[in-house]
Amino acid sequence: MAYYLGVDVGTSGVKALLVDAEGSVVASAVEAHPSYTPRPLWSEQEPEDWWTATVASVRKAVGAAGAGGKQVAGIGLSGQMHGLVVLDRGGRVLRRAILWNDQRTSGECAEITATVGARRLIALACNPALTGFTAPKILWLRKNEPAIYEKARHFLLPKDYVRFRMTGEYATDVSDASGTLLLDVAKRRWSGELLTALKIDGSLLPKTYESVEITGRLSRKAADELGLKAGTPVVGGGGDQAAGGIGAGVVRAGIVSVSLGTSGVVFAHSDEVRTDPRGRLHTFCHAVPGKWHVMGVSLCSGGSLQWFRNALCGEERAVAERTGQDSYDLISLAASRAPAGCEGLMFLPYLTGERTPHADPFARGAFIGITPRTTRAHMARAVFEGVAFSLLDSLDIIRSLNVPAGEIRLVGGGARGAFWRQVLADVFNADIFSLRASEGPAFGAAILAATATGRFGSVEEACSATVKTSWKDGPNPERAGLYAKLHPIWKGLYRSLKEDFTALAGAIE
Ligand code: XUL
Repeated sequence: MAYYLGVDVGTSGVKALLVDAEGSVVASAVEAHPSYTPRPLWSEQEPEDWWTATVASVRKAVGAAGAGGKQVAGIGLSGQMHGLVVLDRGGRVLRRAILWNDQRTSGECAEITATVGARRLIALACNPALTGFTAPKILWLRKNEPAIYEKARHFLLPKDYVRFRMTGEYATDVSDASGTLLLDVAKRRWSGELLTALKIDGSLLPKTYESVEITGRLSRKAADELGLKAGTPVVGGGGDQAAGGIGAGVVRAGIVSVSLGTSGVVFAHSDEVRTDPRGRLHTFCHAVPGKWHVMGVSLCSGGSLQWFRNALCGEERAVAERTGQDSYDLISLAASRAPAGCEGLMFLPYLTGERTPHADPFARGAFIGITPRTTRAHMARAVFEGVAFSLLDSLDIIRSLNVPAGEIRLVGGGARGAFWRQVLADVFNADIFSLRASEGPAFGAAILAATATGRFGSVEEACSATVKTSWKDGPNPERAGLYAKLHPIWKGLYRSLKEDFTALAGAIE
């Protein structure tokens, strides 16, 4: 029996997942790794920790499957996007990796926009310069750590460092490369024009592949460490969002996924390159060869509910601890007892700033519309509704670019909550589909491995064989009508508060 291995190098840990030849998940294992915040707004990790966690999680998953390592016929990688790994001539790590959620580069973003021009940047990279992306990190390194920059011979993305440890190859795939701001996203290759404008030597960048191409083979040393067979093909794989899109079957026009984790991502397949001239959405190469995806990212979706639980729901947490119930279920139950629209209470979920649609690091969370009648149940429901409104903002922009968004699939931790699903169906005024198995990017990476090594003829064929929707939650017309009236008012709140958020950040600093 052949198995295919997906390895997702995430922010909190590495997940290894094995599927069989039918694409059914047989085992998975997660191994955590630490993060470092040497200064406020900085976020770093040690590439060696990713490798240690990869070895441990792969060994665990293969062991749990009762499979021999020799049965693994292909490996697919996915991972946190945008991170900068810096290696010297001998492939040694020169400093900790700077991650996607690091905010140190606002100056470099302004410099890139001024050098390239905002419109030209969107024409080439399909995206504006955002602090999380890779190119601003390279400029920061050159300015602030010149001795390290001098020694640097290779820049890699996080999953591609694991690839390097597996195969010795410096390679990436076009979906992950899209998040560097150095790829010509329409042409699916590094942009000579951007590299020249930013004075970055193209030989520092890895070779690009499509997600279903074989990029190298497992070395003897890596195979021994991982307990797998030397020579096993390692395929391109994808950035975590593109691989997650594959895992949710978002591989043809009309299908959209909404992923509810700490952040919330609305992700749509597109047969053509579609960019938002205002740069509010990300446009990246898809892990489907010759296709693209657009996505909107809300930074604090499940994160808002987690904050609400931790800060204001001591009672639910205590009951949960006593009875073994899930505190989120108890909060959802309370929220479901408050009326839709919360008698005018609204919540802005911008606790950690926002990407889509505001690209505003200074935005903050807010409750607006408190009256003497407001209870904690109203506040809980307002959090669910505010998060849903912010995701609707992304969906609205996707639709305004003529990217079809007919079938909405909900994935991620939030998909498990019936109340979340209902609020989303009502706010979106659309059916919300759930998946039979929702395993995320590691599953997508395993499917890419199976496709690249010939088990399936195409990514589309692999997805239709392996990804199945289960049930759907439909909208309630009365609540949907109310939310349609409330969404424009909710949107106006950020416009009114924007300047105050910036002033507040300045005053506190
Ligand atoms: C995508 C993004 C995150 C990271 C970490 O643009 O920033 O999805 O890849 O998960």
